[in-house]
Amino acid sequence: MNRRDLIRKLGMATAGMALAPYAKGMNPFLGPVLDFTRADFGKDFLWGVATAAYQIEGAWDRDGKGPSVWDTFSHRRGKIHNNENGDVSCDFYGRFATDIPFVKQMNMDVFRFSTAWARILPNGTGQVNQKGIDFYHRVIDTCLENGVQPWPTLYHWDIPQALEDKGGWQNRDVVGWFSEYADLVTRTYGDKVKNWMVLNEPMAFTAIGYLLGVHAPGKQWPKNFLPTVHHATLCQAEGGRIIRRNVPGANVGTTFSCSSAEPVNGNKVHREAVKRLDVLFNRLYIEPPQGLGYPIDDLPMLRKLENWIQPGDMEKVKFDFDFYGLQNYTRSVIKGNGIIPFVKGSPMQPKNLKPRPEITEMNWEVHPMGIYKMLKYFAKYPGIKNIIVTENGASFPDKVENARVHDVQRTRFYQDYLREVLRAKREGVNVNGYFCWTLLDNFEWAEGYDTRFGLVHVDFETQERVMKDSGLWFKEFLAD
Ligand code: BGC
Repeated sequence: MNRRDLIRKLGMATAGMALAPYAKGMNPFLGPVLDFTRADFGKDFLWGVATAAYQIEGAWDRDGKGPSVWDTFSHRRGKIHNNENGDVSCDFYGRFATDIPFVKQMNMDVFRFSTAWARILPNGTGQVNQKGIDFYHRVIDTCLENGVQPWPTLYHWDIPQALEDKGGWQNRDVVGWFSEYADLVTRTYGDKVKNWMVLNEPMAFTAIGYLLGVHAPGKQWPKNFLPTVHHATLCQAEGGRIIRRNVPGANVGTTFSCSSAEPVNGNKVHREAVKRLDVLFNRLYIEPPQGLGYPIDDLPMLRKLENWIQPGDMEKVKFDFDFYGLQNYTRSVIKGNGIIPFVKGSPMQPKNLKPRPEITEMNWEVHPMGIYKMLKYFAKYPGIKNIIVTENGASFPDKVENARVHDVQRTRFYQDYLREVLRAKREGVNVNGYFCWTLLDNFEWAEGYDTRFGLVHVDFETQERVMKDSGLWFKEFLAD
């Protein structure tokens, strides 16, 4: 039995346990009676869903769009589970007008999406694709017509292939390329859109794409990874400055992956490994904008970043973001291990934890307290004034039965994580929004289409949509 089957089996078993209360007469699909309401979060707290262009749009070569690294990478055999790709995905490009209303139906305020760089600038710079520009005008207008706030992210991992051919994120010129794109996008939509994010999870796209080689463009080793870190950090701040310059009254943010790193036990070897991995998981990208520099002392391999840092750069990486987007799914229990280069430790497989936790289809531990810990962690930085949870969610096996998807595990996941968000808020953390990952089942990067995160189920053969019970739960929870 392979890893995926094993996880699926485990998932079913846990779903079975979750259904047990049904026998006692409780509603199995909406979970137990909740101990909190929407009102507890305050009337200004924002609720939304997050998405990303490459994962939902499809239309990879339609209407003048140029190829991105993800088009190239997913077309290479053996890179993606089942050799799947985002060519069609859930065809948001053709269906946005009927998909965005789901956000409204769930009584949510915000639709977070990303603009595809190569749809707007097919070669990355220079010639503008008017049809691409028009598409995002229609997306934004549809949001506004539905009373939903559009929250675009400038970059969610899909650098144009034409720029990757010139070195992509490894080439310092990316700062100029990205600035041209950011300037164009914010000038184009800035009169209608006030809330912006610069990058989606720079740690994920630089490390998984240029260190581990599991995501596009599939490169490996620190020599490829380190320049991308510095260039992404420069773009993160430069993008912030461009938005602020072009959009009067903008609310400027950017997003970060994070995961509470905890030692498997109190032994020094594990605690030391936690310090090093915490740099990679949590600190590397959030500290430079605050003027704290790179956390080199706790991970000396980062000293090599100096090869790419030019005079004046550590001023340029600073930017006073209006909000930090916190994206959390799980925690990392760390075991020290001298064999592993540089970090000398690694996260444990959740199945080896005791007691064995609930595990999602991504092989991630369900650990609601992890989001509480990360909210407290971010809030300790004086430079972080305002936090929005810009992604949180889970992939579990789903089944359509009589036009319903009873996704008990996902619904409970959301309830349990939200309870922890509220706990942090009540303890004074300035967290002011929560966006679910994600609206629609979609292309989950290297995992392809098997891992479903949506609040709305998508049949990829027919493109039929069904709101899952988790979506219906949000609808009820958020109703006035
Ligand atoms: C990314 C999403 C991704 C999700 C689940 C986040 O790190 O921003 O694009 O689908 O995690 O893996």
